[in-house]
Amino acid sequence: MLSRARRFPVLAAVVAAVALGSCTAEETGPPFREVAGTRLLMASVMEPAADHLWASVGWIITPEGEEHIRPQTDEEWTLVRNSAVTVAESGNLLMMDRRKMDDEDWVAWSRDLIDAGDAAMQAADARDVQGVFDTGEQVYFACAGCHAQYWVNDPNQFRQ
Ligand code: HEC
Repeated sequence: MLSRARRFPVLAAVVAAVALGSCTAEETGPPFREVAGTRLLMASVMEPAADHLWASVGWIITPEGEEHIRPQTDEEWTLVRNSAVTVAESGNLLMMDRRKMDDEDWVAWSRDLIDAGDAAMQAADARDVQGVFDTGEQVYFACAGCHAQYWVNDPNQFRQ
């Protein structure tokens, strides 16, 4: 049986080796740690933001006539802007290592989402109702385009 004194250097050597190992890993980039898998990111971040963006402007036809939906206050416009930022930046999250499916179309759809979200953000900043409507459509095409290509019904394909 090892005495306390003799065991310690062994432990120190192990600690040093682990520390050296983590130095090498850090040199490859920031220590990203994806908490949500692709599906949870969609459900918890992207879908709520996109839904808010889509619901913020529109027209409803009622028996009494046409009803316009649009943000009414500065605060409401800020919330639309925030949703657009969330949509845009989530395109970057999709390109992180463990989520990225490939370097071609996956990245292209993610970039489309960033561009569409950016355009929606600018439309919201300009208080441009038609612009938010049009860029919302652009966002929808990026979501739907990627889904058509990558959302196959295999529950084990993506990390939950
Ligand atoms: C770059 C590709 C890509 C883009 C862009 C994308 N998605 Fe997805 N989305 C996926 C994939 C892949 C799945 C299936 C994940 C799975 O089954 O684990 C998915 C699944 C989902 C789901 C189902 C989540 C669940 O709980 O089952 C929702 C909701 C969703 N996406 C919403 C959106 C919305 C809204 C947008 C646009 C704002 C969007 N997605 C953009 C790839 C994408």
